[in-house]
Amino acid sequence: MAKKMQVVEIAQPGGPEVLIPAEREVPEPGAGEVLIRVAWAGVNRPDALQRAGAYNPPPDASDLPGLECAGEIVAVGEGVSRQAGEQVCALLPGGGYAQYVVTPAAHCLPIPRGLSLREAAALPETTFTVWSNLFQRGGLKAGETVLVHGGSSGIGTTAIQLARAQGARVLTTAGSPEKCRACEELGAERAINYRDEDFVDVVKEFGGADVILDMVGGDYIPRNVKSLKPDGRLVMIAFLGGPKAELNFAQVMVKRLMLTGSTLRPQSHNAKAAIARVVHDEVWPLLEAGTFRPVMDQSFPLHEAAKAHARMESSGHIGKIMLEVAGG
Ligand SMILES: NC(=O)c1ccc[n+]([C@@H]2O[C@H](COP(=O)([O-])OP(=O)(O)OC[C@H]3O[C@@H](n4cnc5c(N)ncnc54)[C@H](OP(=O)(O)O)[C@@H]3O)[C@@H](O)[C@H]2O)c1
Repeated sequence: MAKKMQVVEIAQPGGPEVLIPAEREVPEPGAGEVLIRVAWAGVNRPDALQRAGAYNPPPDASDLPGLECAGEIVAVGEGVSRQAGEQVCALLPGGGYAQYVVTPAAHCLPIPRGLSLREAAALPETTFTVWSNLFQRGGLKAGETVLVHGGSSGIGTTAIQLARAQGARVLTTAGSPEKCRACEELGAERAINYRDEDFVDVVKEFGGADVILDMVGGDYIPRNVKSLKPDGRLVMIAFLGGPKAELNFAQVMVKRLMLTGSTLRPQSHNAKAAIARVVHDEVWPLLEAGTFRPVMDQSFPLHEAAKAHARMESSGHIGKIMLEVAGG
């Protein structure tokens, strides 16, 4: 077993160039944890926020970026029933930009039948986030209409497909005709290019939204409230356009709206384990039936993580950007 490993660390808060290859000690799994030899790691927008100094890891997490991976378990801590040699994908508290990472065994899931390790590594952060926010918090049901902002993102492409698979009507926003086309191919009934059209007008043509999944915030907040039907639910998962807005709360009262949101990473070990179980029960069968597939954008070798972040921040991508750590 190697004692040292290659990683990419954040030299100091800044742009993509602060992501620097380095060498670290291989971590050891504690009680309830597994050590994974990483084959592929997913790149998520929160990694870019962490790199920029705007999203600190929880106190007990690795300072290395990386919230999801797929690979092989090579060692297990006390009380773990999983075995060395098993291939898994896993939600991570951090530390995925590395050859080895530790994570709670309860946050690991099997590689879905028919998917590559690269595709499996693209699943945990988006499926956990989308399932817990759209269906558990937002209560989205078959026959309801959902508006997914940022439809071409890793989160958005997952939300469109999972909402369709559950029998919801999906409207979405994206920033170019190419992205809008991709969203409609994934099952959105109407993709709105927000640079040319006002989403409030289009959503009203469809009778309003029951649920909105929003990662933009800012001036989208009052416009989301206008777009919701009575008893609608607004679920906020990020604020790319800023966290503040002026809002007439009378509409919240009159339409009996619910405003909510969550972040995955700071939740308790048990809360994330519970999400892992429901994602395994609800989403894995869709993957194995071919009803849902992660949308894959470009991949980069681990040591070129800076290029991966630059691509993410250019917003040129559709779907998931990946880091190849050991192949497979
Ligand atoms: N709450 C949680 O637990 C949680 C977990 C994971 C991710 N997130 C958040 O969910 C979002 C999506 O994550 P991801 O990893 O899928 O990232 P991503 O693929 O980079 O998606 C972000 C998308 O947002 C759109 N966008 C960027 N800046 C925007 C702006 N100022 N106004 C409007 N749209 C903008 C871009 O598409 P266009 O070109 O169409 O604008 C881009 O594709 C991120 O904000 C991330 O922080 C939250």
